Amino acid sequence: MPRYTSYPPAPAWGETYDANDFRRDLAELGERPDQPLSLYVHVPFCASLCHFCACNRIITRDTALPARYLETMRREIAAIREATADTGRLASQQHWGGGTPTHLDPDQIRSLYGALVDAFPMAPDAEISIEVDPRVTTEAHVDALRDCGFRRMSMGVQDFDPRVQEAVHRIQPEAQTGALVERARAAGFESVNFDLIYGLPYQTEESFSRTLDSVIALAPDRLALYAYAHVTWVAKQQRGFERKDLPAPTTRLRIMLGAIRRLLDAGYEFIGLDHFARPDDELASALRDGSLRRNFMGHTTQEGVELVGFGPSAISELSDSYAQSKRDLGAWETAVESGGVATLRGFRLSADDQEQRWLISRLISLGSIDAADFAQRFGKTLASSHATELSRLGPAAEDGLVDVAVDGSVRVTPAGRLLVRNLATVFDRYLPDPKDDGKKVFSQSV
Ligand SMILES: C[S@@+](CC[C@H](N)C(=O)[O-])C[C@H]1O[C@@H](n2cnc3c(N)ncnc32)[C@H](O)[C@@H]1O
Ligand code: SF4
Repeated sequence: MPRYTSYPPAPAWGETYDANDFRRDLAELGERPDQPLSLYVHVPFCASLCHFCACNRIITRDTALPARYLETMRREIAAIREATADTGRLASQQHWGGGTPTHLDPDQIRSLYGALVDAFPMAPDAEISIEVDPRVTTEAHVDALRDCGFRRMSMGVQDFDPRVQEAVHRIQPEAQTGALVERARAAGFESVNFDLIYGLPYQTEESFSRTLDSVIALAPDRLALYAYAHVTWVAKQQRGFERKDLPAPTTRLRIMLGAIRRLLDAGYEFIGLDHFARPDDELASALRDGSLRRNFMGHTTQEGVELVGFGPSAISELSDSYAQSKRDLGAWETAVESGGVATLRGFRLSADDQEQRWLISRLISLGSIDAADFAQRFGKTLASSHATELSRLGPAAEDGLVDVAVDGSVRVTPAGRLLVRNLATVFDRYLPDPKDDGKKVFSQSV
């Protein structure tokens, strides 16, 4: 199932889009000074391999690799800065993901952050966030992050059950996570997020319910509840999981539904897709007032954000194009050394793509498409211009998952929100033909 962090989805992008295309698109950034600018930094390193992991990461304890990575990052930052004719715009968001950004030591973090904001200054009220692994994140890291200006911290937790942790090769005592939550709050982090995964080996409804007891007691401000993606062609180590040890599909579904119920009972709001937040969190209010949007960094409250990515595999999402850097660390380094930017592939959106992207993104982030909004933006009527797609929502409407009004406005029902990715596929013109081995393109999901 496509995750729709982008439309067209990444498998549809092509390698004919190259570094020259990316440079040209970066140069146009300066023409849109009013659109918010966001920065993404990919730090690919981790100290040990979690056997479920499908992220782009490199397992290493060799300190030479991060040192070389920092040097290459400086060059990439300089090259991207030079390519953007944009001089005055302050970035309103910055996010570091991975891998594990806190695999870098505190001095390396300060130095990389400094290089980035020297080139791309941040707005005073910018939203600055980072993904951390509690097993490697020290007090000195927390202090360095706060000094830099990070305000939101997302922690990988996954599951607290010792048997599950052993099976996935990730021993992370509850007390260790709890201590980091406390430290982050004491240091002034405004928001703490936990990542959880359901569908891991040995999970049962009871075991995951115990994990949720601990999670709820630690009271993170936000939660991501991911479905375990079994993508053995990307993450070969997942082949070590015995089928018999993975929860059966019905158990998996019950774990998910049970978890949603527990989190709602504990006072969290369902933000959509995999995300939950406290009612006073800005994502919850953005969902209520219709300003919630979604991009590669997750949910956001800013409309029309242009995202520039740094590091191997990083994705940039400009107004009408996507670009991804080479995924392999060595290939990324070589390309940056020789040409400044390391574009692997990308995509230029046509007017038609932009329209379909708008429809999919409204459905996914807000659970609705407003016909008047559509008419104002695209100068045509939704009901007639998208009649075929709207009619394909008919069976879902009969099942009570979605309401389609006469003017074409769409509203996803509470039951339909769990299946919103499936509903969005009616607007997807790049969906692979199922006869065409589509399972190799997208991961399994709910
Ligand atoms: C970059 S990691 C988070 C930071 C840090 N590396 C850590 O693990 O603590 C991003 C998140 O992706 C999720 N993830 C990784 N592999 C996954 C998979 N196969 N299925 C579902 N979620 C996955 C995990 O929840 C993980 O916390
Ligand atoms: S889950 Fe996080 S820590 Fe584990 S291997 Fe993946 S990126 Fe690294």
